[in-house]
Amino acid sequence: MPVTTKIEEVRTEVTELAQASPTAQDLMNDMVRLLHHRMLKYNWVGFYLLEPGAQPPVLVLGAFEGAMTPHTRIPLNQGICGAAASSGQTVVVDDVSKDPRYLACSLETKSEIVVPVFAHGKVVGELDIDSHFPAAFTPEHQALVQHCAALVGKKMEAGR
Ligand code: SME
Repeated sequence: MPVTTKIEEVRTEVTELAQASPTAQDLMNDMVRLLHHRMLKYNWVGFYLLEPGAQPPVLVLGAFEGAMTPHTRIPLNQGICGAAASSGQTVVVDDVSKDPRYLACSLETKSEIVVPVFAHGKVVGELDIDSHFPAAFTPEHQALVQHCAALVGKKMEAGR
């Protein structure tokens, strides 16, 4: 199957999942499973959420699929995760070995994408995906992952 067709299919599947999910937590739980299962190069898929009220702010590991990571709490001045949350921008790293910010989760990881989740105009967390393949997150993949993060933000805004 061409990769664009697969991405379109998965985009439809996550959109349907968002419509069917009663809460944002349900959506995140099911979304990490769906993305990990359907996208064969998404070898670790997880959400980090900003801990409410924490000073200094810290990202806490939420729903994830893949091997356990040593990084369950990440301050905003650390890692690719911290960079995405503090800037409010998507961060794509094609070769993690060349990025000094990178915090290793698995020795097999070659590339990574982190997309912030916004609710009511503020970063509340992020969707982090690691791949065993270099440069896995092409612009088409970036658009899919951004769509996923936006669905979760909308569900949070709906207060569920
Ligand atoms: N690589 C991330 C840490 C999280 S693990 O990949 C799951 C980072 O550099 O922030």
